Amino acid sequence: MIEPGRRAISGALEPHDHVHEHAHGDATAHAHVHAHDHPPAELHAGTGAPERGPGDGAPGGEADLAARWIEVEHVHFTYPDGFEALRGVDLRLGRGEKAALVGPNGAGKSTLMLHLNGIHLPSHGVVRVGGVAVDRSTAKRIRAEVGLVFQDPDDQLFSPTVFEDVAFGPLHMGVPEAEIHDRVERALAAVGMAGAGRRLPHRLSLGQRKRVALATVLSMDPTVLVFDEPSAGLDPRGRRELIRLLRALGQTLLVSTHDMRLVAEVFPRMIVMDDGVVVGDGPTEAILADDAFLEAHGLERP
Ligand SMILES: Nc1ncnc2c1ncn2[C@@H]1O[C@H](COP(=O)(O)OP(=O)(O)OP(=O)(O)O)[C@@H](O)[C@H]1O
Ligand SMILES: [Mg+2]
Repeated sequence: MIEPGRRAISGALEPHDHVHEHAHGDATAHAHVHAHDHPPAELHAGTGAPERGPGDGAPGGEADLAARWIEVEHVHFTYPDGFEALRGVDLRLGRGEKAALVGPNGAGKSTLMLHLNGIHLPSHGVVRVGGVAVDRSTAKRIRAEVGLVFQDPDDQLFSPTVFEDVAFGPLHMGVPEAEIHDRVERALAAVGMAGAGRRLPHRLSLGQRKRVALATVLSMDPTVLVFDEPSAGLDPRGRRELIRLLRALGQTLLVSTHDMRLVAEVFPRMIVMDDGVVVGDGPTEAILADDAFLEAHGLERP
C-alpha cells in the first residue's frame, strides 16, 4: 500500500522529455507521457514547513494558492473535427482535496482530465496547477506533478513487461536504481498486482491492465492524481481494494466514474459535468439527495 501523505517528488530529474506516442488515433490525445523536469518553484510552494505570514490567505498568498491548487478557468476545447467538447469549464480543487467527476457519456470528463497535465491545451481559457499555467512551455514540468491515468489502459502501457512500464516514470525522474525495485513493488502491491513484474502487459486481462496503469502513476508519487474511470472493469474484490487505495492516498485526487457507490464511499465532493460544462459542484451527500438534479443529468442514487 502506498503510504498516505507521501507527495514529494525528489531526486535529480532529467532535463529532457520522454514522450511515447501511440500510433493509433489522435496522436495528441494518446500521447503517453512520462515527462519529467524540475517543477517550477511555484509548484513547490507550501511543501515545506508552513510559514505563517501576513500574506497568508490573501490573494496570491500561500494558503490562497493551496486552496486553488488546480484551477480551471473558462476553459473551452474544440476537437480537430470542430466538435466543441468543453464549453466554458470553471473548477477549483484545493491541495489534498478529493473530488469525484461524474456525468453522462460524452459530458467531457475525459477531455477535461486531459487538460490537467497538458495533453490537451484549451482553445480558450486557462488551466493552472500550483499557480503555473499549463501551456507548451510548462507541460512537461506539470506532468511531473500531475499523474494522469487514462480511461483506456492500452494508452498507458507500452513496455514489454509490467515491471518496465511501472519503472518507466521513476527511472526517468532520476530515482536511483536501487530504489526502483522497491517503488515498483510498492506500486504493484497497492493495486493488488504484487509479483506481476515479469508479466506481459498486453497479455493481462482488462481489469489487470487497469490496475497496472494505476501503478505506472503511483510509482512516480506525483502530488496530484487524476484517474479516469479507474473502477471500470474491476471485479468486486478489485473494486474494494481500489476504494481502500483511494481513501488512503494523501494526494490531491480527481477521479471520474459512473460508480455512484464509489463516489459516496470515498469522495466528500462531487463535480457534475454535462454537455461540456460543470452543472453541479458541492458536497456529495447534498447532490446525491437531489433526485430532480440527478434525473436531469442522467445520474442515479447509489
Ligand atoms: N478525438 C475526438 N474528436 C472529436 N470528438 C471527440 C474526440 N474525443 C471525444 N470527442 C467528443 O467529445 C465529447 C466529450 O467526450 P469525453 O470522452 O470527454 O466524454 P466523457 O465524459 O469522458 O464520456 P464517457 O463517460 O463516455 O467516458 C463527446 O461528445 C465525444 O464524442
Ligand atoms: Mg471518459
